[in-house]
Amino acid sequence: MTEQQLVSILNQMTIDEKIAQLLQLAAPFYEGAEGEGQITGPMAAMGISKEVVANTGSVLGLTGAQQVIQVQKAHMNNNRLGIPLLMMADIVHGYKTIFPVPLALGCSWDMQLAERTAEIAAAEAAAAGVHVTFAPMVDLVRDPRWGRVMESTGEDPFLNGEFARAFVRGFQGRDLTGDPSRVAACVKHFAAYGAAEGGRDYNTVDMSERQLREYYLPAYQAALDEGCEMVMTSFNTVDGIPATGNSRLMRDLLRDEWGFDGVLISDWGAVKELIPHGVAANEAEAARKAIQAGVDIEMMTPCYVRHLRDLVETGQVEEALIDEAVLRILKLKRKLGLFDNPYRGADPEREREIVMCAEHRQAAREAALKSIVLLKNEGVLPLQEDRNIALIGPFAQSGDILGPWSWLGEQEEAVRLYDGLRAISGANRVVAARGCGIETGTDAEWDEALRAARNADVIVLALGEHSEMSGEAGSRANIRLPQVQLELIAKLKPLNKPIVAVLFNGRPLDLHGVFDQADAVVEAWYPGTEGGAAIAELLYGKHNPSGRLSMSFPYAAGQIPVYYNHFNTGRPQGAPDAQERYVSQYLDIPNEPLLPFGYGLSYTSFEYSEPAISSGTMTPEQPVRIRVRVTNTGDVAGEEVVQLYVRDVAGETVRPVKELKDFRKISLQPGESKDVEFILSERQLRYHHTNLERISDPGDFIAMVGPNSRDTAELTFTLTKQ
Ligand code: BGC
Repeated sequence: MTEQQLVSILNQMTIDEKIAQLLQLAAPFYEGAEGEGQITGPMAAMGISKEVVANTGSVLGLTGAQQVIQVQKAHMNNNRLGIPLLMMADIVHGYKTIFPVPLALGCSWDMQLAERTAEIAAAEAAAAGVHVTFAPMVDLVRDPRWGRVMESTGEDPFLNGEFARAFVRGFQGRDLTGDPSRVAACVKHFAAYGAAEGGRDYNTVDMSERQLREYYLPAYQAALDEGCEMVMTSFNTVDGIPATGNSRLMRDLLRDEWGFDGVLISDWGAVKELIPHGVAANEAEAARKAIQAGVDIEMMTPCYVRHLRDLVETGQVEEALIDEAVLRILKLKRKLGLFDNPYRGADPEREREIVMCAEHRQAAREAALKSIVLLKNEGVLPLQEDRNIALIGPFAQSGDILGPWSWLGEQEEAVRLYDGLRAISGANRVVAARGCGIETGTDAEWDEALRAARNADVIVLALGEHSEMSGEAGSRANIRLPQVQLELIAKLKPLNKPIVAVLFNGRPLDLHGVFDQADAVVEAWYPGTEGGAAIAELLYGKHNPSGRLSMSFPYAAGQIPVYYNHFNTGRPQGAPDAQERYVSQYLDIPNEPLLPFGYGLSYTSFEYSEPAISSGTMTPEQPVRIRVRVTNTGDVAGEEVVQLYVRDVAGETVRPVKELKDFRKISLQPGESKDVEFILSERQLRYHHTNLERISDPGDFIAMVGPNSRDTAELTFTLTKQ
């Protein structure tokens, strides 16, 4: 179908048909859409008619090839102009084969892996009839109280940007039109949703435009540079205006400055939320502000369908705005090939064949192996297979390891830690006891756990947060493990047996009571369908841990936000002339997080040579090469993430104490050395100046190389522009 033909369809549409294209409803509206008689249920609640539903442009969360085909067929029979429905759904870290949550994948520092997870998620979802996924979520996060940090890849703009690209490549592939096993991606939540004040979900975001552009926007832009087809607005305000009604953000920046011409969708209910936010007096005003800001699709509220027509008729909204929005939606449908085949990839047979197939499960296991981070190990791990293990804790036999966004994943299909351990060591070596629930426990559970622990050589504690404790609307002010689990550790500690804590959670936690008590700590996050198998492989040393934190673990919640690329202040702690008192510090806790960005242990050890630089001078034409030799000095093969950071010593504006500029993930056999070389150019030193121009400052820089953001060796060079 040509663009001309699309325009001709648009020209045949009535204003009501056009406006209905701009409404997105959830699956239940369609499942009941064929019923006769009175309007009841969700349609009645929303005050819309069957005609509106019949003309909508897209559906949220309808999956399953059979069902999608049925709904699309009914729709095509009813739709006067034969415009197919777009099926959209949140396929965030897997369809049914569930991969580790994005924050865990962030710890893999492995873009090929991330791309592969998205490709598999797309293939399963596409076979089940999905056309668009509401992913990747690329919000930069610095506040682990916010439950949605688990949807992000972490706190670094560069790393997030790399992941954003990888996910988009994986979902969309190279040829969205020709490859029905791919889905269109929708980057979210635009913009800066991760900066909600106090980490409370849906809360205000207010920051300078420089801060926004420098840290928060790059990952969205990276996704769009990679060809991401759609963007979703965020719930928060940006400079006093909710994103969904924010013309400066959506029209001026996203559309005009960045040239984004794809479909922009509101987040769930966000158009109507302009009213409680206090920038719209009623639904009509909310509709006007959102369409004027450039929001094409209104998700799950009826402001557009109830008011846009009137707004056009009274001259408050130009019909051209509606035409533009409809045309963008039609173009996406064309790109997905829906006018030629409205069912696209939906195929019950293929769905049966590939969903949760062995190959996909294997990929999920690999992804978990690479995402898990070893946080502490005092000579306990790897476990020996002939030791008796007491596996204790609420996650010992729990299938709640898929994460809050795995709405299609089945816990029954998840490999639990108990089964994973027994598959390696044999059934007799592992005894499981719950010890307590996630938030409460009983005496009988304590007693059973103590009995199991007394008879064991090693205690493996499976602890964490249930999946409702993070994710959307999952903010917590106290981010320790629930008290009952801390008590469980305290009760087992006096037995003087080695304790390995395995953590299942959706955010960096305050690890007091765990880190200081356990001999080893393994951060498993929500590891997905193959989680228990992957953790067991790591615990028994079948695989060497290689995950590195992409988000800092705070020492205490009072430090938050705590992130590695902070500013120095005028009175930094630890400076040669620092006073004892009048420096920027807490009196009761360190400034540093418990575990820094980039951190993670291995079963082997890596030694870094002194780094070397090709020249003390960089020019815009002449980059510098920074080289370091890394040697595996231990007994087993391992993977290391070699990280390069830079600090601009004196900028026009203050600059972070360090910023990640590049990294390499290398694997080394015992005794093997590799030279890692980074080429650092003037472009990588640019940042937003006060006039918002992205340029570099001539002068001195410090380059830092190391295994994490804390333990780095320094080099200096000077940027000259002559
Ligand atoms: C979430 C989005 C999601 C949407 C559709 C919203 O509540 O914020 O991330 O894509 O629902 O399910």
